[in-house]
Amino acid sequence: MNADAAANAEHFEKNRLNWDERAAIHAASTSYDLDWYRSNPGVVGRVVDFDRAYLGDLTGLSVVHLQCHIGTDTLSLARLGAADVTGVDQSGASLDVARQLFADTDTPGRFVESNVYDAPTALADTFDVVYTGVGALNWLPDIDRWSAVVSALLEPGGRLYIREGHPMLWAMDDDLTADGRPQLRYPYFETNDPMVFDFDDTYVDTDEKIAATRTYEWNHSISEIFNAVTRHGMNITLFEEHRTLEWKMFEHMVDVGNGRYELPPEQRDMCPLMYSLGAVKQS
Ligand SMILES: C[S@@+](CC[C@H](N)C(=O)[O-])C[C@H]1O[C@@H](n2cnc3c(N)ncnc32)[C@H](O)[C@@H]1O
Repeated sequence: MNADAAANAEHFEKNRLNWDERAAIHAASTSYDLDWYRSNPGVVGRVVDFDRAYLGDLTGLSVVHLQCHIGTDTLSLARLGAADVTGVDQSGASLDVARQLFADTDTPGRFVESNVYDAPTALADTFDVVYTGVGALNWLPDIDRWSAVVSALLEPGGRLYIREGHPMLWAMDDDLTADGRPQLRYPYFETNDPMVFDFDDTYVDTDEKIAATRTYEWNHSISEIFNAVTRHGMNITLFEEHRTLEWKMFEHMVDVGNGRYELPPEQRDMCPLMYSLGAVKQS
C-alpha cells in the first residue's frame, strides 16, 4: 500500500464510523421519515421525484445505487419500476436500516457493504443504470478512479445519472459574510489532502450528538468530473445546473417546498447549488 492509499484507508475508516453513527439517527428522523415509505406503498421520495424528469424510464432495468445510505432513494428507484435494485455503501449500519426498510415494504433488493472503489469486485456484476449523488462524491478522494468504477459497473449502452452538490457549493463556507453573502473557503479543485472536519451534529432535525466526529472530504471540479467520465468511455448526454439544494446550507436560504432551498431572490442567479449529469457508456 503506498502512502496515499494508506492515508485514504484511514480516511475511509473514520468516515465509516461517522456514517455508522448517523444511520440510526437518520432512521429515527422526520427528515428521512421511513414510516412515510412504509405506510404509503408506491410513493417516491423527494430526491428521486426531482430526478424523474432526467432519469428516463427505469422499467425493467437493473439499477445499482452507489452510496445508498439507508436506502430511501434506492427504494424510490425500485418503485419507479426497476427490475432489480442493488445498493452499495461502506456503512454496514446504514445497510441494516436499508434492508429492514425493504423487508418492511416487501421490496426485493440487494445491499452490499463495500467501499465504492471496491464495488466492481464486491458486486461482480454489471447494470443498466448507475445512480448516485446528493452528498456522495464529496466522500471520495479520486474522481478518476470513481469514474473507472462507474464504467466497470455499466453494461455497454448503460447509463450513469448523478445529481450532486455543485463543486462551487462545496467550496463555500457554511457561514455567510457579515453582509449576508456566501463566501469561498475550501478548494474548488480536487486536492491530494482532504478537507478535515470535526462536527458532532448531522443534517437531520435531531438533538443527538455524534461521537465519531472526524470526517474527511474532497471536492472535484466540473472539468475534473467531465474529463473523468469521458476518459472512461462514457458520453455525457445531460448536464444541468440547479438553483435549488436538498438541505439548508446557509441560514438565509429560502424554503421553496418539497424539502428544497434556494438562495434569496437577489442572490438566486449568482451561483449554481447542484447539478444533474447523465452519461451513456459507449457500446
Ligand atoms: C449523504 S449519504 C448519500 C446518500 C443519499 N443521498 C442520502 O441522503 O440518503 C453519503 C453515504 O456515502 C457513504 N460513503 C461515504 N464514503 C464512502 C465510500 N468510500 N464508499 C462507500 N460508501 C461511502 C456513507 O456511508 C453514506 O451512507
